[in-house]
Parts: sequence; structure tokens; C-alpha cells
Amino acid sequence: MNNYFNDKVALVTGAASGMGLATVRAFAEVGATVALADVNDDAVHSVAEELAAGGHRALAIRCDVTDEAQVAAMVGKIVSTFGRLDAAFNNAGIQVPAVETADATGEEFERLMAINLRGVWNCMKYELLRMREQGSGAIVNNSSIGGLIGNPGLAIYHATKHGVLGLTKSAALEYAMRGIRINAVCPGTIDTPMVAEMVARQPELMSDILKAQPNGRMGRPEEIASAVLWLCSPGAGFVIGHALVVDGGYTIR
Ligand SMILES: NC(=O)c1ccc[n+]([C@@H]2O[C@H](COP(=O)([O-])OP(=O)(O)OC[C@H]3O[C@@H](n4cnc5c(N)ncnc54)[C@H](O)[C@@H]3O)[C@@H](O)[C@H]2O)c1
Repeated sequence: MNNYFNDKVALVTGAASGMGLATVRAFAEVGATVALADVNDDAVHSVAEELAAGGHRALAIRCDVTDEAQVAAMVGKIVSTFGRLDAAFNNAGIQVPAVETADATGEEFERLMAINLRGVWNCMKYELLRMREQGSGAIVNNSSIGGLIGNPGLAIYHATKHGVLGLTKSAALEYAMRGIRINAVCPGTIDTPMVAEMVARQPELMSDILKAQPNGRMGRPEEIASAVLWLCSPGAGFVIGHALVVDGGYTIR
């Protein structure tokens, strides 16, 4: 990637934890200016301070991705501070405990849709308004292997992640001629606080996870970050509307 990211501005949502945090660090390491957005205000501010102390350009923004006005203000703040937006990783998302479809509640459905799907659309809309004006940009949405396959107990989560791929592919076609590439990553099971919470609730899950992995381990957040950086780089210039599976071989079984 050489010096490609040196004059680039990258936004990461859900930047306080897990894959978002690893991606913020990876963008900063290759010289990008980073905007860190999360509902966890204290955490993104402390990461931004730590990055600034290390000589990086970083801006922390409290943003709930379900709130369109907050998302519009977040993109506005990035552009008024740094003058542009070159890359965005729409990563903020939640998981809820597994429950079979007949027992799930409407509240769970609305909450998952609001964060995992509407949140991605909110972000794409305001990122694209800016990138369309610039005539350039790269967006990566965080879907999941749950965007490709089914899993008992996780119907609503998987519906949101299938939806993220629908947004990705359709918007990718709209902007392919205008210098903006839109892709997605589909992580398998990644060792983040989200998975740690699931395992804490249900400890026997860990051996099931490891048994299902052809390579016998979970993924590391940094392994998703490197996929995101590649998708945002010129090396992926011919990659459009792709759902990049990073799952240690889980879905090829
Ligand atoms: N961990 C996995 O195994 C896995 C696998 C596939 C996909 N994913 C997806 O990857 C993404 C990141 O997951 P993670 O495992 O790093 O999770 P994580 O829980 O470690 O981090 C998620 C971050 O998103 C933030 N967030 C939650 N709701 C938000 C909102 N409304 N607005 C702004 N920020 C919000 C949280 O505060 C947190 O910092 C999610 O979209 C998740 O669905 C996770």
C-alpha cells in the first residue's frame, strides 16, 4: 500500500471495540487520518487521545448509527475538520442471544434491524453524499458469514447481515462509474468482546466454535482489519460489490 493512505481520511463505526478498533489502528499505522465513531464515547475518545499521542491524526465522535441526524452530523464533522472522506468501514453492530424464530420478540427484531441494517444504510447515505461530490471513495460494510448462510436461533441477525450484502451490491452498481467502490467483509467467528460475551453466557459454545473451524481457531480482529484496508486500497481497484469471506474456511465445508 506504500504511502497511499498518507493523505486519506478513513471513518470507522463501532470503533471502540473488536474489529472496529483493530481497523482504526491499522488505518492509523499506514498513515491515514482516522475518525472513530461509536456510542461508547469515553472509549473512542481515549483511543483517539492515545493515537494522537503517537503522532497520528485522529478524531473521536460520539454517534449512534441508528440516528440519521447523528450520522449526518458525524460525516459533516469529519468533512469540516479534515476536508474530505476517502474510506469508510461501516462496522457497528450487535448480536443478541440465540432464540428460535417463534420465540423471538418484535423488540429484538426492531433493535437488530435499527443497528445492523438501518445503521449501515444511514452511514452509506451520508458517506456517499460526500464521496459523490468528491468523485472518489471506498466503502466496506461489515456483514458476516451470517449474510451468506443460515443458523438456527439467529434468523433475525442473519436477515440483517443478508440485508447488508443487498445494500452493498446494489449501491456498488450505482457508483461503479463514479469512482466509488463499495464492498463487504463476511467475517467468521472472530475473537472480540461480542463473542466473549456470547461464550460467557454459554461456555460450552467455545468448544463448538473451535470444532467447526477447519483451522481450529477463531479469527483475530486484525485479520479483518487487513481485509478492510486491502478493499479500500488501489490494489482492490477492480473489486466492486464483493462479499469477502474471512472465516478460516468455515463456509467451505
Ligand atoms: N465477532 C464476530 O465473530 C463477528 C462475526 C461476523 C460479523 N461480526 C460483525 O462485526 C461487527 C463488529 O463486531 P465485533 O465483534 O467487533 O463487536 P464488538 O461488540 O466488539 O464491537 C462493536 C462496537 O459497535 C458499537 N456499537 C454498537 N451499537 C452501536 C450503535 N448503535 N452506534 C454506534 N456504535 C455502536 C459498540 O459500542 C462496540 O464498540 C458487527 O457488525 C458484528 O455483527 C462479528
